[in-house]
Amino acid sequence: MQEELFKRLVSHCKEYGFIYPSSEVYDGLGGVYDYGPMGAELKNNIKEYWWKAMVQMHENIVGLDSAIFMHPKIWKASGHVDAFNDPLVDNKDSKKRYRADVLIEGEIDKMNDKAEKEVAKAAKRFGESFDEKLFRETNPRVLEYTQKAADTEKRLATAMKNNDMADLKSLIEDLEIADPDTGSRNWTDVRQFNLMFSTQLGNISGEEGKLYLRPETAQGIFVNFNNVQRTSRQRIPFGIAQIGKAFRNEIIARQFIFRMREFEQMEMQFFVRPGTEMEWYNYWKAARMAWHKAVGPADKLRFKDHDNLAHYANAAVDVQFEFPFGFKELEGIHSRTDFDLGAHQELSGKKMQYFDPELNESYVPYVVETSVGCDRMFLSVLSNALVEETVPDAQGEDAKRTVLRIPAPLAPVKCAVLPLLRNKEELVDKARAVFNELKYDFLCQYDDKDAIGRRYRRQDAIGTPYCVTIDFETLENNTVTIRERDSMEQVRVPISDVSRIVGEKTDLRRLLENLK
Ligand code: GAP
Repeated sequence: MQEELFKRLVSHCKEYGFIYPSSEVYDGLGGVYDYGPMGAELKNNIKEYWWKAMVQMHENIVGLDSAIFMHPKIWKASGHVDAFNDPLVDNKDSKKRYRADVLIEGEIDKMNDKAEKEVAKAAKRFGESFDEKLFRETNPRVLEYTQKAADTEKRLATAMKNNDMADLKSLIEDLEIADPDTGSRNWTDVRQFNLMFSTQLGNISGEEGKLYLRPETAQGIFVNFNNVQRTSRQRIPFGIAQIGKAFRNEIIARQFIFRMREFEQMEMQFFVRPGTEMEWYNYWKAARMAWHKAVGPADKLRFKDHDNLAHYANAAVDVQFEFPFGFKELEGIHSRTDFDLGAHQELSGKKMQYFDPELNESYVPYVVETSVGCDRMFLSVLSNALVEETVPDAQGEDAKRTVLRIPAPLAPVKCAVLPLLRNKEELVDKARAVFNELKYDFLCQYDDKDAIGRRYRRQDAIGTPYCVTIDFETLENNTVTIRERDSMEQVRVPISDVSRIVGEKTDLRRLLENLK
């Protein structure tokens, strides 16, 4: 069912101009996507929602737009040159590459699925009298599957933590994992694969001129710490926010825009006094969850603490969203200590410190980071919005509709202006006049092709929250109907009220006010 929804979502995105495969005329490029007219609008609105929630709503957060190319030493200091790796394994027969940990995680999922199937079967067999807890605790098959899954998970975590590539290979062999495409078990050894893309400066040859495409935007913030602090005169605690492209040479880019090779991050580094970082970590956990819940359902959002902390972190949690393929990471919140500023201070030889007037001392600030993928946010909004429903009292073609219930302030088009009939000049002229006024306030579409019902459906499919229809009564008394997307209810209002009504309902302020 969820797989069905996911397939529908991907084709809907293409059909209605949200997302296209990149370079499609050349058969596409793996893990890279282009955003179409509707996608570009939705993405911009998500970014605006994030930027306003962070920068506009916090006096002590300022913005930055740093370059994608940075001095290569930055990636040495940050640890990305040495440690930004995934374990790679090749299948010798199919020549396909896989992430060893992902193959093993797939096996763990299968074990857990088997246990769940046993539980579901028993629930069906025993009906009302079924004691699920007791069954889980005593059924030998369920116990065997869950124990095996837990043991494998533990062994995987240890191997990953210790960079033990040999044990990852043994795990693949012990679990008899086969190439998902061909069934072959003929694997190479597991080895580390660095995820950074590299390129070359034009005026320097060889290693000296080697540059990386940034794998996270955060480092641009760290190396600008002194500049921003000085020029914005911010005092600790304060934050620097940035939205920008990041690049990772993912071994397997999959699940549509969930894991891409070129993607966009919305990151904020919050600089705090050492020792206060856990307080701010908890503050940002709550603040970021509130941001997500203002546009997404609470039961599809949850926290997941990291089992293994990255080398730079002393606490880390993911905000997970229930995508059509399960609960997965949407955002990461990390307490990064003074690792990054400290490392840049050491390698560059330049002080990365803050003089705290209250303590009368200088220190390297600690950092709490919030980092959300813009594309993943886009996917979460759309997968939650896509609904196919039966329309009450409608018949034939009109009895079903596909609607994107995108929160109105994020919707690509806010309002459609529709003359009831296209061959009545007075209606068309009036509709054009209404459109030409409203376009100053928000993105509108004018549409006069096909019957009015089909035009409503087209707007439903791109998530337009309001449709304004110009009919014969409009010509008599300057009133129009406004149709609301989700309820399909129509109300008649004076033309002079349309901008205010639609504006109020689609203003980002409605979301930002929920964050208090
Ligand atoms: N600066 C910290 C950092 O980059 P991360 O957990 O690796 O942390 C943060 O990435 C967020 O960026 C993730 O939660 C996810 O939303 C997004 N992200 C990471 N890799 C991605 C990819 N390959 N494709 C799309 N989004 C990605």
